[in-house]
Amino acid sequence: MGEAILDYQALQEWQQKLLDAAETVLIQAYNPYSRFSVGAALLTETGEVIGGANFENAAYSPGICAERAALVRANAQGYRKFKAVAVMGRPRDFQEKNREETFAQVTAPCGVCRQMLFEADQLSDHDLEVIMSTPDKSRIVLMSIKALLPYGFGPQNLGIDLSEFKK
Ligand code: THU
Repeated sequence: MGEAILDYQALQEWQQKLLDAAETVLIQAYNPYSRFSVGAALLTETGEVIGGANFENAAYSPGICAERAALVRANAQGYRKFKAVAVMGRPRDFQEKNREETFAQVTAPCGVCRQMLFEADQLSDHDLEVIMSTPDKSRIVLMSIKALLPYGFGPQNLGIDLSEFKK
C-alpha cells in the first residue's frame, strides 16, 4: 500500500466511521500540559471499534499517546488483530488566529506509537492501515504502518514466532 491523500468524501464509509470515532474520543484527552488533544480509533478484524485518547502526567514522560492507549485497551478487551487505525489531533484551545496553520497539519503517530502499531501489524492478518487526518477532516492521508516505519524492528529480528499470541 502506497500513500494516498484524500478528502473525507473520497474515503470509504468504514474509513469515515473510524475517523468519526477518533474525533469523538479526542474530546476525552487529558492534556493539561500540552493542551493538544488526540483521538485514535482501532478497527478490529471482527469489526469492533476501540478508541483511545492521550493521557498526560505532571512528570511529563509517563504520559501516553492516544494510539497506545487504544492498543492496550483493545488488548484488555481480547483484541489483537486490527484492520486500521484512525488518528486525529487538534489543540484543546483552538484559536481563530492559528486556524489555517493548525488545520493544514495531519496528526501522524509519534515514533513510539509507530513501533507499537508495527507490533500490532505483526499480529494481524492484513496490512494495518493508518488513517491520519487534519482537525477539520479536509485532508486525510492513508498509509500502511509498514510504510510509516520502514525497516521496522520486529519479532523476526529476534527469531520469535508470534503464533501463540495471535487472537
Ligand atoms: N500525541 C498523541 O496522543 N498521539 C500522536 O500521534 C502525537 C502526540 C499526544 C502526546 C501528548 O499528550 C500530546 O499529543 C502532545 O504531544
